[in-house]
Amino acid sequence: MKVPLDDIAEPGTNARAVLEQIEPGRLPNHVAIIMDGNGRWATARKLPRVEGHRAGIHAVRQTIETAARLGIDVLTLYAFSTENWKRPRHEVLTLMGLLKEYINRELKTFLKHDLRFRPIGRIDQLDESVQRELARAVDATASCRGSLIQIALNYSGRQELTDAMRSAVREAAAGTLKPDEVDEAWIENHLTTHGQPDPDLMIRTSGEQRISNFLLWQLAYSEIYFAPVLWPDFNQEEFLKALLAFQRRERRFGGLPQTGSVFTPPKDKHGST
Ligand code: FPP
Repeated sequence: MKVPLDDIAEPGTNARAVLEQIEPGRLPNHVAIIMDGNGRWATARKLPRVEGHRAGIHAVRQTIETAARLGIDVLTLYAFSTENWKRPRHEVLTLMGLLKEYINRELKTFLKHDLRFRPIGRIDQLDESVQRELARAVDATASCRGSLIQIALNYSGRQELTDAMRSAVREAAAGTLKPDEVDEAWIENHLTTHGQPDPDLMIRTSGEQRISNFLLWQLAYSEIYFAPVLWPDFNQEEFLKALLAFQRRERRFGGLPQTGSVFTPPKDKHGST
C-alpha cells in the first residue's frame, strides 16, 4: 500500500476492519469493474433512473481514491457499452453530460494523486464535446506516474477483437503479416489494453452475474467477484471486501497448486502454448 492505513480508512470503521485483514503485498495489479445497478437504486427511491447515475459518481470517486491509495496499478471502469445506446435519449445524454462534468471537476484530484486517465472504446463515435473533454484529461495527466484510471466508453469486447482481426487481415493482404505470426502476443498488442497486465479481479455490482461484453479477451483468467450491492452503494468497505475475497481465492491458471510441472506444454503450430 502506498500510504499509511489511517489515510485509507478511519480507525474504528467497518472499512478499517476489512483493510486490516488485507495483505499489502498481494493486491491485484489490475481491477476491472462493471458498475451496475444505478437504475434500480433510483427506482427503489422513486427517482428517475438518471438520479442513480448521478449518485453513482460518488462511488466512482471513492473507488478511484481507494485504488490510488492502495497503489493498484490499473483500475478499469465500465461506464458505457456499445449496447447502452439502446437506452432512452435522455438517459444517454445525461450520462454523457455527467461524464463531462465529472472530468471537469475531478481533473484536479487526478493530478493531485498523480493518476493517469485513459478512455478505451470507440471514442471517435462520441459527441465532439465529450471527445474534447476526454482529450483534455488524457493530455493533462499524460506524465502522471501513479495508478492508471481507465474508463470504458462506447466499449465492446467483441468489437475490440473484431478490430484486431481486421488489422490482421489488412496486414496479411498487404503482405506484412504471415498466419504463423498471429499468436496471443500479436493479438494482445492489437487490443486497446496493450502493454497492461490483464485484470486479476473483475467486480460486478448489483448481484447480476454476467460479463456483458466487457474485456472478453483480457478476463480469461480473472477472478470474478459479484458484489451484492447496487453501484451507488458500493462504498469503500464493499471495495475492500472484494479485495479481501480476491486474496482468499486460489489462482491456478489451469494448473494445480504447488506442484512441479511434469510436462512442457506442447507448442501449437503457430508457436504459442
Ligand atoms: C449501469 O447501471 C450503469 C451504467 C450504464 C452507467 C455507469 C455510469 C456511472 C456510474 C456514472 C458516470 C461514470 C463516470 C465514470 C463518471 P444500470 O443503469 O444498468 O442499472 P440497472 O441495471 O439497475 O438498470
